[in-house]
Amino acid sequence: MTSEHPIPALALLLAVLLGGAALSGCASLERGEPSGHSGRDAGGAGPDAAAPADAPSFGADVHPILLASCGDCHGPGGDERDALALGEDPDADYDAIVRLSDADDPEGSRLLRLASGNGHRRVIAAGSPDYLVIAAWMAGGEQP
Ligand code: HEC
Repeated sequence: MTSEHPIPALALLLAVLLGGAALSGCASLERGEPSGHSGRDAGGAGPDAAAPADAPSFGADVHPILLASCGDCHGPGGDERDALALGEDPDADYDAIVRLSDADDPEGSRLLRLASGNGHRRVIAAGSPDYLVIAAWMAGGEQP
């Protein structure tokens, strides 16, 4: 009966000692945390800032569509190079196409209006996959 008391007392003492050790451990962890947090925040800005990288790019996505869709007439050897001249090098064509694009209103852009048949023959139908890639490229900030 009486021998049962020392055990809870010992347990309490151990709990206090372990608690104290745990507290000091926490304190040192907390001291280390601020740098850990700021490191994570700095790393977190990377993926967020890189979000536009998910948007289509001119060289990889848009230029191949334009060459395939418009190249017969406006590409190398085409008859309509006075109106728009496209070549094999995306960098060389980027400025001319950006002049026809509108990041704030892709569907209202000269490029997509012409391509979808507004004042021009329809080459890329509104709402088609190619049309949507070009619209997403504009809305995504016209990545080169
Ligand atoms: C079958 C031939 C043909 C194809 C394919 C073609 N075009 Fe044209 N394009 C023309 C002709 C002809 C003109 C000049 C007369 C006119 O404006 O319609 C022209 C004119 C243009 C102009 C200048 C007129 C303006 O209003 O700025 C642009 C820009 C243009 N095309 C863009 C494109 C784009 C972008 C594509 C592909 C999505 C394309 N074209 C596909 C024949 C074509």
